[in-house]
Amino acid sequence: AVEAARAALARLVLDVPDFPEPGIVFKDITPLLADHAGLTAVVAALAEAGRDAEGNVVVDKVLGMEARGFILAAPVALALGIGFVPVRKVGKLPRETHAVSYALEYGEATLELHRDAVAPGERVLLVDDVLATGGTVKATRELVEACGGSAHAVAVLMELGFLPGRETVGDLPVTTLMTV
Ligand code: PRP
Repeated sequence: AVEAARAALARLVLDVPDFPEPGIVFKDITPLLADHAGLTAVVAALAEAGRDAEGNVVVDKVLGMEARGFILAAPVALALGIGFVPVRKVGKLPRETHAVSYALEYGEATLELHRDAVAPGERVLLVDDVLATGGTVKATRELVEACGGSAHAVAVLMELGFLPGRETVGDLPVTTLMTV
């Protein structure tokens, strides 16, 4: 399953030079999302991060980070037979939240999670498209812990190997299907 996912990524993630600004090569996952076999393979491979070696599901919820994380996390939750929870940019969630702010290259970002979205003691799998600096994953882990839960692992399609994402996420296991 992982081999099929890696092959799909290699074929269906397109490099777009100079987007969103000159010098940046954007990784466009939309052709992968549009391909049923490719999407099926990557969802199955990401879901493995929520199972133990015997194949038992060991997490209670799947969290997806806005916006591209949502697209992958919801089908991963269905594949594991558990629920999906959105981690959103500030001001989008309607009820009481926990909020964590973190530094970006220029400025600051804030993510929010509904306070009751993760119950005390629950273990969650984090799913996103890209691990870059790791700031998003680190902030999400803090949100889960603010609810009394714990992050079990993070699963992403792609990791930017030239950035210190893994160092930033610390001891959280990272499953990645492609390193750029
Ligand atoms: C991108 C990506 C990850 C995050 C990774 O999201 O989808 O969530 O950046 O970067 P980091 O490891 O440096 O935190 P973006 O904020 O561009 O949001 P979008 O999915 O809404 O476009």
